[in-house]
Amino acid sequence: MHVIDVPASTPYRVHIGTRLLEASGGIIASACGGAQAAVITDSNVGPLYADIVADSLKAAGYAVCVFTFEAGEEHKRADTLLAALEFLAEHELDRNDVVVALGGGVTGDLGGLAAALYMRGIKLAQMPTSLLAMVDSSVGGKTAIDLEAGKNLVGAFWQPRVVIADIGCLGTLTPEQFADGCGEVVKHGVIADPDLFAALEQTPPTLQLLMTNLARVEAIVARNIEIKRDVVAQDEREGSVRKLLNFGHSIGHAIEACAAFTIGHGNCVAAGMCAITRAAIAEGACDPDVIDRLTGLLEACGLMTTSPYSAEELFACALHDKKRHGDSIDLVIPRRIGACSIENVSLDAFRILIEEGLAS
Ligand code: GLY
Repeated sequence: MHVIDVPASTPYRVHIGTRLLEASGGIIASACGGAQAAVITDSNVGPLYADIVADSLKAAGYAVCVFTFEAGEEHKRADTLLAALEFLAEHELDRNDVVVALGGGVTGDLGGLAAALYMRGIKLAQMPTSLLAMVDSSVGGKTAIDLEAGKNLVGAFWQPRVVIADIGCLGTLTPEQFADGCGEVVKHGVIADPDLFAALEQTPPTLQLLMTNLARVEAIVARNIEIKRDVVAQDEREGSVRKLLNFGHSIGHAIEACAAFTIGHGNCVAAGMCAITRAAIAEGACDPDVIDRLTGLLEACGLMTTSPYSAEELFACALHDKKRHGDSIDLVIPRRIGACSIENVSLDAFRILIEEGLAS
């Protein structure tokens, strides 16, 4: 069991361990109080875990209601958000009550935004069940839905009161879903922790590792949350260093958009990290060893290391990136394993970097 305190504007605790679904009611009651808990989950996760969490919440004294939406990024939309908000109102949740977002990144984003908006903001407990949500999206307070024009274009910073990551939930992920989370794990190694990166190279995180060494996977998740904690504690609203967490994301988001979101986010980020690293090496800005180590680790995790789309296609999609400011865009440039910098580059320079990143 690991416990990590996040010193955000509203401080909160992250609990990482096993059998935490069963213990969640008591943990949420201590962190949030309130009389009613609304569990927001999706059609994949709800049937697996909602009853366990609801029973635990009831045992802790909560009246419980469960809102289940259709799983998939294509449902992280305004109509689902509105349905969730109507559900909270129908069940008469008040300002003291709590939303429990139980699921992967889509559920955390959508449930978190519902909590941020309902009655101008009620308490939120994040219960991530995917590796990606555990190591990244459940911590740091970003919540959002997508618009036709792009991903995460409507959102709020809304800090949870508690995060509960039950490592046992990872056992029901497919190898592809598990690998998707590894994209963000590897990213954290590159931006902040050469020792983590080297340890991952020794023992790549896979579902097989989860089966044979659960404690190791728990330790990897905990270290990732510490890295994220350290970044968001310095810069909660992404004015400066939090941008480092976008390593690989400008090109990764473009791949995701070109693929109409049929390729997982972490997989797209993996290919995006490789592309920007190749470009940084071509520009003489990055230690040349980085690309072989990065591609080697990502391949061991079962992730993509090249873009399935041309530079022209990616550039067209990247123009919609919300990190773009007029004629320029903030990019995270790797220097060596464990050190990256944030550079504002012109769109013309970005186009050249994409071309360099896709040249083998
Ligand atoms: N996933 C990047 C961030 O939380 O800032």
